[in-house]
Amino acid sequence: MAKKDIDWGSLGFGYIETDYRYLSSFKDGKWDEGALITDPNVTLNECACVFQYAQTVFEGLKAYTTEDGRTVTFRPDLNAERINQSAARLKMPVLPEGRFIEAVKMVVKANEDFVPPFGSGASLYVRPYIMGTNAVIGVKPADEYQFRILVTPVGPYFKGGAKPLTIRVSDYDRAAPNGTGHIKAGLNYAMSLYAIVDAHEQGFAENMYLDSATRTKVEETGGANFIFVTRDGKVVTPKSNTILPSITRRSLIHVAKEYLGLEAEEREITLEEVKDMAECGLCGTAAVISPVGKINDHGKEICFPSGMDEMGPITKKLYDTLTGIQMGKIKAPEGWIVEI
Ligand code: PLP
Ligand code: COI
Repeated sequence: MAKKDIDWGSLGFGYIETDYRYLSSFKDGKWDEGALITDPNVTLNECACVFQYAQTVFEGLKAYTTEDGRTVTFRPDLNAERINQSAARLKMPVLPEGRFIEAVKMVVKANEDFVPPFGSGASLYVRPYIMGTNAVIGVKPADEYQFRILVTPVGPYFKGGAKPLTIRVSDYDRAAPNGTGHIKAGLNYAMSLYAIVDAHEQGFAENMYLDSATRTKVEETGGANFIFVTRDGKVVTPKSNTILPSITRRSLIHVAKEYLGLEAEEREITLEEVKDMAECGLCGTAAVISPVGKINDHGKEICFPSGMDEMGPITKKLYDTLTGIQMGKIKAPEGWIVEI
């Protein structure tokens, strides 16, 4: 199949309309069989629960072209599990087993000429979402839903490629302040919009959110989890029930231990101890691993020894191994790579 005529190397993280999207509808207590459609617009009643009460959850994963020309996705079973956890928390119907992966495969296959070529630095971002679609005016869940998947080719999430970022400690909370920060619901991202615009206006790439109860522990950023390397070479990442359980992070802990022979641990990390870390990165599907060089804590700068020019050495090893696995250059653990 001929790839689309796109300058893959200069793509940022934006939306480009592709040829097909997936739609399955839930009505009378069951999901229909689902199909590919071509219309990128969604038409719903003005009183749809998604509009009035933000009853919507989403996922994010990527499809890649491997060196030998296959199209693959990375651990979609974990996205399937997580979208169902998010849906259950917003009283939405969950997806039947197998449906999520089947739909991802279908929509990626149909848009295969939008999957960026190997080595281009770009990938196909896959955005599944579920929303309440019928009219609801009292505060209650919808009875009808749509499960959709759109795909769009993307480049790096942060401008400047792999250059270390400067971020700031935020006084805002990332998510709706009700302990639901672990679910991937649109309302949590809406809650973060004020803080992200404010951070950007002040010249910071992201916000470091702290736990809202004590404001002493590191949580995550608006779109990625933190991963740190201690000065004695251990990989550590914050333990918290109110951050999104990142699939990239879970994968990196495995990579650190099993591929790189490093110690890796999920534990509470205080803001106080961040100044003693050797390296810091933001990890996620969109962020991959984006290095952090500097954190501004209300005017006080925390500068990592890895500096502002390149990734720290252990971050680089993690990055190379993870992306090597995702793009088929390094043998993946059983079940991590799903071929389209
Ligand atoms: N944290 C937040 C708030 C996110 O939006 C994301 C992205 O999905 C992540 C963390 C990283 O999660 P994952 O690695 O599963 O993409
Ligand atoms: C992802 O990485 O998939 C996310 O949802 C993060 C978002 C900031 C694009």
